[in-house]
Amino acid sequence: MSEGLRVCGLADLPPGEALRVAEVSPPIAVFRTEDGEVFALDDTCTHQDASLADGWVEDCTVECPLHASRFDLRTGEVDAPPAKRGVRSHPVTIDGDDVYVTLSEAAPNLPPGVRASSDFPAPSDQPAPSDQPARSTP
Ligand code: FES
Repeated sequence: MSEGLRVCGLADLPPGEALRVAEVSPPIAVFRTEDGEVFALDDTCTHQDASLADGWVEDCTVECPLHASRFDLRTGEVDAPPAKRGVRSHPVTIDGDDVYVTLSEAAPNLPPGVRASSDFPAPSDQPAPSDQPARSTP
């Protein structure tokens, strides 16, 4: 029996394609290279809020659809700027036709203004007292 989260079947992931998995937070993306290798990274680019699953897979890299940073699918490291920080990579296991991902326990490298849904709101995201509606008194 495989460990990890079953994210899709191999048939759901044609070579050169990617799949966004939003059941986890932050979401991950699963990629299949033209050579048939399967990799998993955090889906959110570390530069800004863009989905790497919407990017382009070429050899063993994915190019961000927004500003063309490239990330190594094997390690998550940055291959081309403007992103400066890599994305987390997650081990993948193939069991028959099923693709399993073991989620990394490392902290994600999310871009400014983006947080995992389980995080508490950052203080800067809370409305300032002057932004709150005035209370009417009876
Ligand atoms: S959002 Fe990915 S490179 Fe800018």
